[in-house]
Amino acid sequence: MDVIVAADRADLVKARDALGEGSLALVPTMGALHEGHRSLIRLAHEHADHVAVSIFVNPLQFGPNDDFSRYPRTFDADLEVCAEENVRVVFAPSADEMYLPDRQIGVSSGEMGTIAEGAFRPGHFDGVLTVVLKLLNLVQPDVAIFGQKDAQQLALIRRMAADLNLPVSIVGAPTVREPDGLALSSRNRYLSAPERATALSLSKALRAGAAEATPSAILRAARAVLDDAARLDPPLALDYVELVDPKTFKPVGEAHEGEAVLAVAAKVGTTRLIDNVIVPISG
Ligand code: PAJ
Repeated sequence: MDVIVAADRADLVKARDALGEGSLALVPTMGALHEGHRSLIRLAHEHADHVAVSIFVNPLQFGPNDDFSRYPRTFDADLEVCAEENVRVVFAPSADEMYLPDRQIGVSSGEMGTIAEGAFRPGHFDGVLTVVLKLLNLVQPDVAIFGQKDAQQLALIRRMAADLNLPVSIVGAPTVREPDGLALSSRNRYLSAPERATALSLSKALRAGAAEATPSAILRAARAVLDDAARLDPPLALDYVELVDPKTFKPVGEAHEGEAVLAVAAKVGTTRLIDNVIVPISG
C-alpha cells in the first residue's frame, strides 16, 4: 500500500479517514532515517494496527550554535524507508505550518529540562516537548514510540504525558548500534574516519562503566576511557559523563539501588554525540 504524505492538519484528517478502523502508533523523527528509526517503526507495528511517522526538523529545539541549517535532510530516501517498513502515513509539515508567527505558548520542561543534557543545551527540551505535544495533538495517535538513545528526552516525554494527562501511551525502544558499538545517529554521517574512531570511545566508556557494580566505580571506569580519548588524534572533547536516576535525571548517590542511566555527551571535531546505557545497581 502506498504511503500517504500529509503536510497539514487537513491532510491528516483525510489520511486518518483513509486508514479506517484500527489503532495508530506515531514515530516522531527529524528524518535522515537510519536503522534506529527503522527499529522504532517495527516496534510501532507491534503496538498498533497502523503506523505514522512524522518528519520535521524542529527549529525550536536547536540553539543558536547548533546544527539546524546543516542537519541532514533526505526526504526522498526517508519516504522509501517508510514505504519499506509499511508506514501508512508520513506527516511532513513545513515550519510555517507548525509555528504561527505570533505564537506565545510552549511547554516548559521544568527543572528536569535544565540538568544533564539540558545544562548544555538551554531551551532544547522546551523545544522538544513543545513540538512533541503539537505532533501528538495533530496526529492523535494511541501510542507514540521514542528511543532510549535520547534517554532524557524519553524520560521528559513520559513526565509530560503524566503531568499533562496526555491520552497516549509512551513506549521506549532500545538503542540500535553499529557492530563496533557506535550508537546510530543521523549526525554520524558528519564524522570522518579518524573522528569515527575517536567517537567509539563513547560506547567503550559506557561498556567499561556498566561492567562495574557501584556508582563511584562505574563513573571512575567510564571517566578513565574518556580521559584516554581526550588524548587521541582527533581528541574527544567531553561535555559530561553522569550516572543519573532514569526517571528524574538527577545524579544518583553511592547508596542508590535499582537502575541508573550512565549518560555521556562529547564533541568530536564539530559533531556533538550523546549516548547512554542503563546499568543495574544492586547496592
Ligand atoms: P531524531 O533524532 O530523528 O530521533 C527520532 C527518534 O529515533 C527518537 O525517539 C530517537 O531517540 C530515536 N533514535 C535515534 N537514534 C536511535 C538509535 N540508534 N536507536 C534507537 N532509536 C534511536 O529525537 C528526535 O528526532 C526529536 O527530538 C523529536 C523527538 C522527533 C522531536 O523533534
